[in-house]
Amino acid sequence: MTSSLATVAYLGAAILFILSLGGLSNPETSRRGNLYGIIGMTLAVLATIFGPRVSPAGIPWIVGALVVGGSIGLYAAKTVKMTQMPELVALMHSLVGLAACLVGFASYVDTSIQYTGAEKVIHEVEIYVGILIGAVTFSGSLIAFGKLNGKIGGKPLLLPARHWLNLIALLVVIWFGGEFVRAETVADGMTPLIIMTVLALLFGIHMVMAIGGADMPVVVSMLNSYSGWAAAATGFMLGNDLLIVTGALVGSSGAILSYIMCNAMNRNFISVIAGGFGGGAPAAPKADGAAAEPKGEVVPVSAAETAELLRDAKSVIIVPGYGMAVAQAQHTVNEIVKTLRDKGVTVRFGIHPVAGRMPGHMNVLLAEAKVPYDIVLEMDEINEDFPDTDVAMVIGANDIVNPAAQDDPTSPIAGMPVLEVWKARTSIVMKRSMASGYAGVDNPLFYKDNNRMLFGDAKKMLDEVLVALKG
Ligand code: TAP
Repeated sequence: MTSSLATVAYLGAAILFILSLGGLSNPETSRRGNLYGIIGMTLAVLATIFGPRVSPAGIPWIVGALVVGGSIGLYAAKTVKMTQMPELVALMHSLVGLAACLVGFASYVDTSIQYTGAEKVIHEVEIYVGILIGAVTFSGSLIAFGKLNGKIGGKPLLLPARHWLNLIALLVVIWFGGEFVRAETVADGMTPLIIMTVLALLFGIHMVMAIGGADMPVVVSMLNSYSGWAAAATGFMLGNDLLIVTGALVGSSGAILSYIMCNAMNRNFISVIAGGFGGGAPAAPKADGAAAEPKGEVVPVSAAETAELLRDAKSVIIVPGYGMAVAQAQHTVNEIVKTLRDKGVTVRFGIHPVAGRMPGHMNVLLAEAKVPYDIVLEMDEINEDFPDTDVAMVIGANDIVNPAAQDDPTSPIAGMPVLEVWKARTSIVMKRSMASGYAGVDNPLFYKDNNRMLFGDAKKMLDEVLVALKG
């Protein structure tokens, strides 16, 4: 393939990636978005393998690597549960970071192209910055992976004078950057490069360790953004325009997503990065972690009573959360919605931006169960309708319907926007126990006079509700 044909293919791939991102912004167009992404990536890989930069002798190596990597990816995609997606994503970000580091070191020791003057400086700055971002992304993502799957505790690690430590590390990295660029030989430059890599790895660990469980969603999307910048840096090192464009797309879309998530949780981006939030939480920030101290009496209901309440209602809002994903109850939810709508009940869904464990988690599950898109509304679109609603049914959600976010300024989730289910005539919360949610805080909603608790696994209880509704 000639160089100009490869450039045209890269341009086509870049356009397809942009169309893909556009498509993914809406459930109705997301399949098309995915398809654009797949075609774009296939085009990009083929143009790279058969492009002018790869000699025929290298092709078997690349194909071998593709088969190994592709098989691991396929196995992971097939076996991972929906609720484990964030940790898989974190692990994948770590690989992008590792790749940026390895490419950086390889570019540095590769003396087949001799750079001189300004070109040499630019090339070395690209290597230094690429390895820096890559190392932070690599170690930070590994810690995020450990925190998300519970192998590392969610409590923030707050070292004394941690901001000073970070500042000193930054100054040392800048100083060694000067040493690196001034080095005459590869051997001389290797020492500052290795010292910077170790510091960057430690910084990545320290940065994510300092972040409390409740802020982890933002951190994962922030690391997503870093992985994009690491890929862009790799593109600069390899002189690959498509990698620069793709990395910049991932980097900027990750940054926008982090910003949107910070708004959804009423968090300031800088304070998330500075860390510490979530430390005041009384329980481990895991959905099935220890229960917070109960603070009142709750009124349990049976599945039959729930069906009765739903049947008598004119309007129902369903608020799904992480528990619906764990129980895989979305198909039964859809059956219940169909049955209620056939009986003339108005049913809608209220989706919190951080419901579940990843952005869009609930939308994906509901789309999979074929719930009509037009009845699935965002928190801001539906919140003011709760006072005119007969029944608000909360399925495996907790933090996102916690009134303490509005009423208790001392709560670790104070200020986080929540779905105001308690304003409905009756709210029903479906969960297995009194255990706290992800943020590890008690939920005063459970003790309100108009609230009922339907205890049990969401799928099992909803199956019973469906039978009672149809009976
Ligand atoms: P949570 O606050 O974690 O509450 C989920 C509830 O589901 C738990 O209290 C649990 O109670 C219940 N549950 C678990 N398994 C269940 C099952 N099989 N059947 C019925 N109930 C079950 O979830 P949420 O309300 O969706 O809020 C999301 C939280 O996760 C927020 O704090 C958010 O910041 C955080 N987070 C979000 C993301 C993104 S981007 N969406 C990523 C990471 C973290 P029982 O144990 O009593 O059943």
